[in-house]
Amino acid sequence: MTDITELIMDDHEWFRRQFARLDDASGAAELASIWTPLASRLGTHAAAEESIFYPRLLHRGADADSETDDAIRDHNKIRDAVADAQHHEVGSPKWFAAVARARAENTGHLGEEEDEGLPDFRKHASWELREQLGRRWIEFYAQHQGGRGVSGADVDPEDYLAEHAEGNE
Ligand SMILES: [Fe+2]
Repeated sequence: MTDITELIMDDHEWFRRQFARLDDASGAAELASIWTPLASRLGTHAAAEESIFYPRLLHRGADADSETDDAIRDHNKIRDAVADAQHHEVGSPKWFAAVARARAENTGHLGEEEDEGLPDFRKHASWELREQLGRRWIEFYAQHQGGRGVSGADVDPEDYLAEHAEGNE
């Protein structure tokens, strides 16, 4: 099964569970063992969506411009919180505050994506396209294992929308 909407939701579930695991962790080493792969995958997931999912949603969705604009802004807030956490000692109050911000931004964003962008795409994309993008999603993760080659830099939503406007598929 390589439907891209399923693969995205699999990641969403994994993110929620990793944040929950942090609640039960104690000590810097255990916290870091959960946070390091979580932080890395949050970045890879946003980059994969921006590279594979949102460009196609923009060409097919009914309300894709605003869904994409929202998503890019949310991704930037998540990236900023993750970057902030990396500046603080794991387990310190400032680290916990940055992680809590990443969690809250992420939880809000996943809900919006699941209620808006993903349904819009399912209604307007063929099964063939969903599977084709799913295969590209898996390849993207294989090429960026451990976040390799993912910049983590913010993306300007207006530039992004212009770059992927109709005709630029
Ligand atoms: Fe997203």
